[in-house]
Amino acid sequence: MIEYRNLRVALLGGGSVGAQVARLLLEQREELANRVGAGLELVGIAVRDVDAERTVDLPRELFTTDAESLILGADVVIELIGGIEPARTYILQAINSGADVVTANKALLALHGPELFAAADQVGAQLNYEAAVAGAIPIVRPLRDSLAGDKVNRILGIVNGTTNFILDRMDADGDTLEEALATATALGYAEADPTADIEGYDAAQKAALLASLAFHTTVPLESVYREGITRVTPQQIESARKAGYVIKLLAICERLTDAATGQEGVSARVYPAFVSRSHPLAAVHGANNAVFVEAEAAGPLMFYGAGAGGVETASAVLGDLVSLARRHVVGGPGFAASSHADLPVLPIDRVTTRYAITLEVTDEPGVLATIAGVFSNRGVSLALVEQSMTPEVSASAGQELVPSTATLVIGTHAATEAALAATVTDLAANSVVTTVASVLRVEGA
Ligand code: HSE
Repeated sequence: MIEYRNLRVALLGGGSVGAQVARLLLEQREELANRVGAGLELVGIAVRDVDAERTVDLPRELFTTDAESLILGADVVIELIGGIEPARTYILQAINSGADVVTANKALLALHGPELFAAADQVGAQLNYEAAVAGAIPIVRPLRDSLAGDKVNRILGIVNGTTNFILDRMDADGDTLEEALATATALGYAEADPTADIEGYDAAQKAALLASLAFHTTVPLESVYREGITRVTPQQIESARKAGYVIKLLAICERLTDAATGQEGVSARVYPAFVSRSHPLAAVHGANNAVFVEAEAAGPLMFYGAGAGGVETASAVLGDLVSLARRHVVGGPGFAASSHADLPVLPIDRVTTRYAITLEVTDEPGVLATIAGVFSNRGVSLALVEQSMTPEVSASAGQELVPSTATLVIGTHAATEAALAATVTDLAANSVVTTVASVLRVEGA
């Protein structure tokens, strides 16, 4: 039997994920060597401050501040620093010095993926990034490898645990967004600055990565339409519930026909949407993540689990490491990023979606017919109407009569943004409508 030399593994970053990767690499040294066919030798951990407190007790001699020397001597570089620079430069240095790379850096890949993949492709290096999307959940390699013979038509992902936790609390406990965010912060789910999560930037980066993989097309981050959850109200959560839905922040990647040209295109978008309570994604609670994939031959598939966390994310990093270390042993170039389909990425106004519109209306004869007429004038077809009554205000002697009102939740069939916007303007101007309380899209079958 051939004995392969140990592969030299350099780790960049000693934070909550990095420290767990180092621990598992050291503790599972023998087992991993058996799986790879060669030893994986952790040669060093580059950090900013070698004396900083760590979440895991690791040999002090492994730590260094000299990332560049570590990279130069490595067969595999694991980048867990995060952010754009110096992570981008380090990854390019690693690739150009002949190393393979594992990264969890979604922001970097969403912005500079094509540059990094091209650099890797040029020298036959492998760049793996399972941990960049949905933490521990295997989804990058399933899309790249397991579904490589299938055609993915749609992905609906709950890929941000902080916002799923917040929306779940609002739904289950009646919290306001501020209350739920305060709990998420106290439990350590939300960052001190939660903007990237609650405004949907984190989910948009993941949507760009998923759409690029699923559709063999480079989907730039700036082409991902994004709305966060900051405008979701308890009233919207309640009206979703009354109509049999739950509100989830979704990353949606979809293959579709361009309404304007009739050509095939793709869309990547992030927004809070109504999801039927019978859809598998409605059962994703707390800070968990799930990615629901609809593939032509495989049908619907759901990948579910922890979307963050040090040791959980470390599992995905180690999986990537073992996978590319095996290739080192058998030889041959790494997988190149696949962008051969090169489909047009459609802006949101060329996408048709379904909507749920919540209206407060006066409860009088003919109101429903008037409302239906507004939709029909704009060519928007109705799929569902749910009405609930506001408790009657009785008029006692001498008091002014307060007209009773009704809440209508109206679900539409697929319509364009333009048709919907015109419908909402007409509704707001109509005298039977007291308030347009909410306009959200509906996703999932
Ligand atoms: N902040 C992310 C989340 C985890 O809340 O899911 C890292 O992507």
